[in-house]
Amino acid sequence: MIGTIFLLFFSISSSSYTYASLTLCRPDQRDALLEFKSEFNDEGIQGAWTSFCVTSSPKRKSWENNTDCCYWDGITCDANSGVVIGVDLSSSCLHGHFKPDSSLFRLQYLRSLNLAYNDFNASSIPTRINELTGLQRLNLSYTSFSGEIPTEILHLTKLVSLDLSSIFMYSQTLSSPRKPFLSQLAQNLTNLRQLDLSHVNLSSEMPQMMISNLTSLRSIRLHGCNLFGRFPRLSPTIRSIDLSVNPHLESSLPEFNGRKIPSSIGNLSHLNILDFGYNNLAGEIPTALFNLTKLSSLSLASNHFTGTLPHNITSLSNLNIFHAASNSFFGTVPSTFFNIPCLESLDLGDNQFSGPLEIGNISSMSKLQSLVLSKNNLTGPIPTSISKLVNLVYLDLSYLNTRGPLDVGIFWHLKSLQQLTLSHINTTIARIDLNAVLSLPLKSLSILDLSGSHVSVENMRSSVSTLLSQLIYLFLSGCGITVFPEFISSLQYISMIDLSNNSIKGQVPAWLWRLPELHYAELSYNAINGFKEFPKDVSRTMMTDLFHNASAISSRGVANNHLTGKLPDVFLNDCNLRSLNVGSKHGAQQNQRHFPILVRILTRATPTSPPLQ
Ligand SMILES: *[C@@H]1O[C@H](CO)[C@@H](O)[C@H](O)[C@H]1NC(C)=O
Ligand SMILES: *[C@@H]1O[C@H](CO)[C@@H](O)[C@H](O)[C@H]1NC(C)=O
Ligand SMILES: *[C@@H]1O[C@H](CO)[C@@H](O)[C@H](O)[C@H]1NC(C)=O
Ligand SMILES: *[C@@H]1O[C@H](CO)[C@@H](O)[C@H](O)[C@H]1NC(C)=O
Ligand SMILES: *[C@@H]1O[C@H](CO)[C@@H](O)[C@H](O)[C@H]1NC(C)=O
Ligand SMILES: *[C@@H]1O[C@H](CO)[C@@H](O)[C@H](O)[C@H]1NC(C)=O
Ligand SMILES: *[C@@H]1O[C@H](CO)[C@@H](O)[C@H](O)[C@H]1NC(C)=O
Ligand SMILES: *[C@@H]1O[C@H](CO)[C@@H](O)[C@H](O)[C@H]1NC(C)=O
Ligand SMILES: *[C@@H]1O[C@H](CO)[C@@H](O)[C@H](O)[C@H]1NC(C)=O
Ligand SMILES: *[C@@H]1O[C@H](CO)[C@@H](O)[C@H](O)[C@H]1NC(C)=O
Ligand SMILES: *[C@@H]1O[C@H](CO)[C@@H](O)[C@H](O)[C@H]1NC(C)=O
Ligand SMILES: *[C@@H]1O[C@H](CO)[C@@H](O)[C@H](O)[C@H]1NC(C)=O
Repeated sequence: MIGTIFLLFFSISSSSYTYASLTLCRPDQRDALLEFKSEFNDEGIQGAWTSFCVTSSPKRKSWENNTDCCYWDGITCDANSGVVIGVDLSSSCLHGHFKPDSSLFRLQYLRSLNLAYNDFNASSIPTRINELTGLQRLNLSYTSFSGEIPTEILHLTKLVSLDLSSIFMYSQTLSSPRKPFLSQLAQNLTNLRQLDLSHVNLSSEMPQMMISNLTSLRSIRLHGCNLFGRFPRLSPTIRSIDLSVNPHLESSLPEFNGRKIPSSIGNLSHLNILDFGYNNLAGEIPTALFNLTKLSSLSLASNHFTGTLPHNITSLSNLNIFHAASNSFFGTVPSTFFNIPCLESLDLGDNQFSGPLEIGNISSMSKLQSLVLSKNNLTGPIPTSISKLVNLVYLDLSYLNTRGPLDVGIFWHLKSLQQLTLSHINTTIARIDLNAVLSLPLKSLSILDLSGSHVSVENMRSSVSTLLSQLIYLFLSGCGITVFPEFISSLQYISMIDLSNNSIKGQVPAWLWRLPELHYAELSYNAINGFKEFPKDVSRTMMTDLFHNASAISSRGVANNHLTGKLPDVFLNDCNLRSLNVGSKHGAQQNQRHFPILVRILTRATPTSPPLQ
């Protein structure tokens, strides 16, 4: 009896609680949201119309009229008044035109609006955005809005964070309005702490007051904004600067002498992230830069920087990322890099570093995951202490001149490796023993590139066991290989193989067609003279237009094989075939009845390009 009363009491109180919570949302706010929802159809919820639309239950699915809007996914209400103050519909599969008079603008109490990662199909940013006068955070990144940014956005003087960035996919679909835009932004949006306009076509100079007026600014990303002129004085409070990919930016700081980094960079003592990549900067790195012991990420990649890197680089003790590839740095690679405790990624590729590579005594556990030293002038053996970099995922030592044999056993302990690039290694004495490479217990390795290095496949085991069974991409171009490497037949996940520029004789083995994941096999410039067997299952072989392309392709004359025999009808009849690239040593005069030369075999779709540097 007591139990029943208690239960009754409990159910009354819980339903009154539900009733109370139902009333939190203000009806006008609820209706505005429901109307906004109906401005987009639900097509996107089912179909994956864009790579962003991956979520199986987009937030607005929970938006139903009979429930309290303050409890809907992505909605934040003011706890007292029940007005909507936050809308986060990022990654919500919204697809279609954004109405200039969208009911969203009735949510006049909004403080935060995030519509990132949706597809508004090249709509303009509505000018009525200025009606949301309370907005502090506006995030329209990756939304495929296009056209000019409305100046009305500059009325939103309470903005603390503004993100209108995009990616190359929507490259510069947004542009800034008439020239004084950035000055006006600096005059009006003085509360900004975060500004990201990456890939907005600003096509302008950076006004002096751009940074000096924005005293609260902590993070600025203007990646790929088509900036030119001189970059103004930076505020010492700034923590993150990304000015990468602005090739016409003449100088990036006020005291830049020409295109050099000034010593005053050392004043920016709060800097965490500094990205000068892909600009036209030159000169040496001022030693003052190495005063920025807060610095966690420094990118100088693809500029014209020169000079040496100092051994006291360890003063940057918080460095996670140091990218200086594609410059003209010279001297030795400071071994002290490997003593920076939290360094995760070091890329010094494509410079003029010389001398032996020294890694030094690594006492503590190295966190280094990515090490790129390719395309330098480094000589001498790979230090055995590389085996202590046990967290390496990506290692590229291409163009190293080892001046002696290369013992691949030193990679034995690098069990996290996913990509190993040892291309164009000048070993002079010994070849890289492929048997030894295949015996490495690197179970995560998905990309192996030995192109241009002399590889020995002699005495390859015929029973093709390899521990590298996860390989997806295999590059063995120009390795002096003379027989079709049998071990490939055991690579069940292999998607792409490059065996071009070798001296492989004989026939293309039948097992090639049976590799379940193979998309692409590059076999040009060999001495292949036929097929052991043609594929029976052509449904997965995509080649088209053989006859239409045959003469054009053969006139390209890129092939250098000796393939003879009749082209099997299966190739010619299958309309799913995508591309068969044939070429003839003897040009178009070759007897049409013969299938003169196989250059490439493309099966299925072309692969997404491998994540090579
Ligand atoms: C939601 O429901 C209420 C009450 O049933 C109704 O008055 C209102 O028009 C509805 N809103 C929408 C957008 O359908
Ligand atoms: C997107 O825009 C294109 C071109 O204006 C139009 O054909 C298409 O119907 C639009 N799609 C949606 C979902 O609005
Ligand atoms: C700056 O903000 C004020 C107040 O919102 C507004 O009146 C003015 O037009 C804005 N300036 C620009 C250039 O939009
Ligand atoms: C904008 O939203 C996206 C997706 O939620 C997020 O990744 C990004 O960091 C946001 N930008 C800012 C400046 O907060
Ligand atoms: C950027 O804007 C400038 C000036 O309007 C224009 O000349 C240029 O072509 C634009 N760039 C791109 C990539 O759209
Ligand atoms: C911005 O800075 C300039 C000088 O750099 C100054 O003349 C102007 O008054 C400043 N504007 C505001 C709003 O602080
Ligand atoms: C920046 O550093 C330089 C010395 O490198 C100094 O002369 C200058 O006064 C500093 N500027 C500021 C604003 O602190
Ligand atoms: C950098 O540090 C050195 C020594 O710690 C100091 O003498 C120099 O003034 C600093 N430079 C700047 C620009 O802060
Ligand atoms: C780093 O070494 C260079 C010389 O190699 C020196 O000029 C500089 O003051 C040193 N910096 C620090 C912070 O010790
Ligand atoms: C590295 O460590 C070894 C043994 O611990 C020691 O003999 C050697 O001197 C050390 N080398 C350097 C450069 O510290
Ligand atoms: C590479 O180093 C050798 C000597 O170690 C030197 O003779 C040569 O000029 C260097 N090449 C380049 C491109 O720096
Ligand atoms: C390989 O190294 C030897 C000796 O150091 C040198 O003579 C030769 O030119 C190098 N080959 C290449 C391709 O760099």
